[in-house]
Amino acid sequence: MTEHLTIVTHPLVQHKLTLMRKQDTSTASFRRLLREISQLLAYEITREMEMTSETIATPMEQMEAPVLEGKKLALISILRAGNGLLDGVLELIPAARVGFVGLYRDEKTLEPVEYYFKVPENLEDRLVIAVDPMLATGNSSVAAIDLLKKAGAKNIRFMCLLAAPEGVARMKEAHPDVPIVTASLDRCLNEKGYIMPGLGDAGDRMFGTK
Ligand code: URA
Repeated sequence: MTEHLTIVTHPLVQHKLTLMRKQDTSTASFRRLLREISQLLAYEITREMEMTSETIATPMEQMEAPVLEGKKLALISILRAGNGLLDGVLELIPAARVGFVGLYRDEKTLEPVEYYFKVPENLEDRLVIAVDPMLATGNSSVAAIDLLKKAGAKNIRFMCLLAAPEGVARMKEAHPDVPIVTASLDRCLNEKGYIMPGLGDAGDRMFGTK
């Protein structure tokens, strides 16, 4: 991918996103819509995966048929909201390897602190797709990608549902080599760090915790 930011403007994505934004959309619908959109975003983010071919036999004859090249890709969920995107992408790419990065925000320093990190082996040989629905300040995304690079990842992409200009700028400064794929670039962050107009707290909405 050459663009730093790709906004997927496909009508199905945009329609489903509008349903997700509505405040009276139920938890069950929110989860289903997130899963559906995640697959459409995955279609876009994997568009340029490397291919090779193998000889196969159809019931009719032999042919050279295209297959994905290289090691299985790694999907990395940034906890906890990343899991809502992860589930849908895994349905589409069931052989993917999966990792998790857990970060919390230190109340004093406001910096992200790692509490969980478990990722597949040989990250350096894989396409690594980090998923988190909301790219807000960018602090946790930047920190998660720092950790992935430290673990060896070289070819990383970032998938989110919504992005704020502040988060995109922060990612571009810290990780200009990591393309971002999103369904929308929203207006701004509010004083509490929420994306406006956004959809509220993605984790609470998908897990029904509020
Ligand atoms: N995280 C969320 O869940 N929502 C926002 O608007 C910003 C960060």
